[in-house]
Amino acid sequence: MKLAIVYSSISGNTEELARIIMEQFKQKGLDISCYRVEDFPLHSLLTFDGLLIGTYTWGDGEVPLEMVPLQAQLESGSWEHLVTGVFGTGDSFYPKFCGAVNAFRDSLKERTNLAVTLKVELLPQDVDMGRIATFVERIIERMSVPA
Ligand SMILES: Cc1cc2nc3c(=O)[nH]c(=O)nc-3n(C[C@H](O)[C@H](O)[C@H](O)COP(=O)(O)O)c2cc1C
Repeated sequence: MKLAIVYSSISGNTEELARIIMEQFKQKGLDISCYRVEDFPLHSLLTFDGLLIGTYTWGDGEVPLEMVPLQAQLESGSWEHLVTGVFGTGDSFYPKFCGAVNAFRDSLKERTNLAVTLKVELLPQDVDMGRIATFVERIIERMSVPA
């Protein structure tokens, strides 16, 4: 079972969340790699069993520009074999809190085997650790079930 985290982050909040999630998968002995979206070869999607997407939100609840090619790639095919999760950080000051997580959720639900979503307020805090652990568990559970 091979997993990838593909994320984007400007000020570091989503990067920190990706790091924590990566650490938890590694502690459980899973084969996981982490890529900034700019460094992820889209053609390699087929080689993964699990894909975890991490995104901040910009504009008025929008997907960051650098994440759009990945979203388009997922929307252009059928990826039922792929267990997915989407996580993100946002700021509840904005009306569309973590809007980019919602946008990816909708794409992944239609095209992949979506297991779980996670929204965190800005930089992850101790209070978020329980929900982060649940996110990881949901992915592992789903990957243990044959599609
Ligand atoms: C111009 C701008 C627009 C934003 N719009 C939203 C938004 O619509 N919804 C939201 O939840 N957060 C919004 N945010 C907050 C960021 O998504 C949040 O700070 C996030 O944690 C940044 O992640 P990063 O540190 O990984 O770059 C916005 C931030 C900026 C600078």
